Amino acid sequence: MDKHGFLVDNHGRTINYLRLAVTDRCNLRCLYCMPEEGIDWIAREDLLTFPEMLAVSKLLVGMGIEKIRITGGEPFVRKGTVEFLYDLSKLDGLRTLTLTTNGVLTAPIVPEFRQLGIQTVNLSLDTLDRTRFFAITRRDELPAVLQTLDQLLFHGIRVKINCVVMAGKNTQDIGPLAALTKDLDIDVRYIEEMPFNGSAEGHAGGHWSYQDIVQHLQSAYPEMHRLPEEPYATSMNFAIPGHKGRVGVIAAYSRSFCGTCNRIRITPQGVLKTCLYDNGVLNVRDMIRTGNATLENAIREKLGGRFVDGREAEEQSYGRQGVHESMAAIGG
Ligand code: GTP
Ligand code: 5AD
Ligand code: SF4
Repeated sequence: MDKHGFLVDNHGRTINYLRLAVTDRCNLRCLYCMPEEGIDWIAREDLLTFPEMLAVSKLLVGMGIEKIRITGGEPFVRKGTVEFLYDLSKLDGLRTLTLTTNGVLTAPIVPEFRQLGIQTVNLSLDTLDRTRFFAITRRDELPAVLQTLDQLLFHGIRVKINCVVMAGKNTQDIGPLAALTKDLDIDVRYIEEMPFNGSAEGHAGGHWSYQDIVQHLQSAYPEMHRLPEEPYATSMNFAIPGHKGRVGVIAAYSRSFCGTCNRIRITPQGVLKTCLYDNGVLNVRDMIRTGNATLENAIREKLGGRFVDGREAEEQSYGRQGVHESMAAIGG
C-alpha cells in the first residue's frame, strides 16, 4: 500500500473527504441550482480530463483523503464517468467511494455499483409529485428517478434522499418524503436552500431554516427524537418511532457544521475550494498542465490557510453581494 498521509488544517480539523465535480452539465434545471436558459457552460478544454482527475485524486489520497464523492452537475451526463469510477475504485488508500446523483440516467448503472465498492448513494429528490417535480426541475423525469430509487434498494445500496426545501415550492412534500422512511430503511435529508442558483436573486423560494424544517417535522411526528451525532456529519438526524429509516436536516445555509468540516472540493475546471462558500483558492488544473512539481506543497499551503467557517469564506471571497454561482459549477 502507498504511503498514506494525514491532513489537518490551520484550525485543527482533519481533512479526509474530497468532493470531486466531474461536470457542470446537467439534464435537469433545478430552480435552486441554475437558470432555465442562458447558462454559461464551461468550455470543454477548460474541464479537467478524467486522467487529470485521476492524477489529482491519487495525489490527494496519498496525502490523506479517504473518501471521494463524485458530484456535478450530474455525474452521469459526462461520457466516461463509469470508467472513471472503476479507475478510482482501484486507488490504494481510498476507503469510501460514493456519489450524489439526480437519478435520471442512473438506474441502468446501479447493478455495477457493488463491483465498484459503492455502498451508499445520495439521490436528489425534492418531491414525489410529478407536477411539482416538473415545476422544480423543469423536466418531466420523476419516473426515471423513482426507477433509480427502486434499483438502489433492490441492490442493497444505502440511500440518502436529498430534498432542498423551498417555501412556496415544495414544503407540502416534506411529509410524503418522510413517510417513505416508515417502510424503507433510508435517510431523507431536508436541506436549507443556498443562494447558488446562478442568478443574483438569491434564494428561489423564501428561506426555510433548519429550525423551521425540524418544527414542521415535529408537528407531524411529535415522538421524533434526535440521534447521536455522527463524526463529520452535515446532517442532524432524527428517528421516528415505528419507522425503519431516519429523517435529517442539513443547515447548509445557516452553516452550523463548519466546526467539524473535513472536506475539500475540486470544481469541474480543476479549481481547489477549501470551503463551499469560497471562490476557489488554487488552480490545480493549470499546475498539472504545466507539470508544476510544487502542486502538493501548494495544496498543503492552502489547507494551512483555511477560513474558519463558511461565513468568513463568503465575506472574504465575495464581499457584501454574497455568492450566486450555480451549484453545478461548484459541485455542491
Ligand atoms: P454524506 O457524505 O452522506 O454525509 O453527504 P454530504 O452531505 O456530505 O453530501 P451531499 O452531496 O449529499 O450534500 C448534501 C447537501 O449538503 C448539499 O446541499 C450540499 O451542498 C451540502 N453540503 C455538503 N457539504 C457542505 C459543506 O461543506 N458546507 C455546506 N454549507 N453545505 C454542504
Ligand atoms: N441549496 C441547497 N442544496 C442544493 N443542492 C443543489 N443546489 C442547492 C442549493 N442551492 C443540492 C442538490 C444535491 C446536492 C449535491 O446539492 O440537491 O443533492
Ligand atoms: Fe442538476 Fe443537481 Fe443542479 Fe438539479 S441540483 S440542476 S440535478 S446539478
